[in-house]
Amino acid sequence: MKKGKKLYEGKAKIIYASPQKNLVIQHFKDDATAFNNQKKAKIDGKGILNNRISEYILSNLNQVGIKNHLIKRINMREQLVKAVNIFPIEFIVRNIAAGSLCKNLGIEEGTTLERPLIEYCLKNDDLGDPMISREHILTFNWLNESTLDLITGECKRINDFLQGLFRGVGIKLVDFKVEFGKTSNDEVILADEISPDTCRLWDEKTEKKLDKDIFRKDLGNLIEGYQEVARRLNILHQQPVLKPISFPKPKEVKIKKK
Ligand code: TMP
Repeated sequence: MKKGKKLYEGKAKIIYASPQKNLVIQHFKDDATAFNNQKKAKIDGKGILNNRISEYILSNLNQVGIKNHLIKRINMREQLVKAVNIFPIEFIVRNIAAGSLCKNLGIEEGTTLERPLIEYCLKNDDLGDPMISREHILTFNWLNESTLDLITGECKRINDFLQGLFRGVGIKLVDFKVEFGKTSNDEVILADEISPDTCRLWDEKTEKKLDKDIFRKDLGNLIEGYQEVARRLNILHQQPVLKPISFPKPKEVKIKKK
């Protein structure tokens, strides 16, 4: 598919125009950032893994009726997606305390929350994506009440589905961030990505981190963590070790002399 002009470049993805009306191409980069862009690196292969993992998750969500922007993956790094106007809010869902929840409220990492906690953050890098309340969203008209309720409901459904999906492969879904937007038909749908860049995923038994915290906290090889997630979801098939083929030595052919 022929890419059109670049429409938007974010920290981990680029959006290009596509030849099809109301559709765009979402390209996954290898760039990793943390702490509002203060820590940066290029991690070979991260974009490929996130493209595959997000495709898998969004197509599964689609199958259970959670409308989203994914049309199809078109190559190793790109997806054809519906064009949306992204709402300026990040929706965070937490099941287990980690990250900023622990830092801001002094809650011990790993504490299981009695019920999923939904938080809202304003998407504004200059302000450091501050946490906002439902009242802020309504007062400043970032979303109307019915859209906010619809998205909050979708966040809970996404959480239920993803918790089950990951539990089935021995992974705890600690928390995640999602973004929503409006299509040209005024439909509100899930957009962006769901990948180990945007979730916290811990091995069920060892609590080993398999997500972007590996990069944020310098815990080792990020690609190995993301590959482990992909492997467990059966996206990344284990490459069989091919035995070298041994050919028998050609037999000597004796040519009889006349
Ligand atoms: P936090 O604990 O740092 O607030 O992050 C909560 C979840 O949201 C975690 O899964 C990481 C994800 N997240 C993003 O995807 N992008 C962001 O910019 C931030 C701050 C968090």
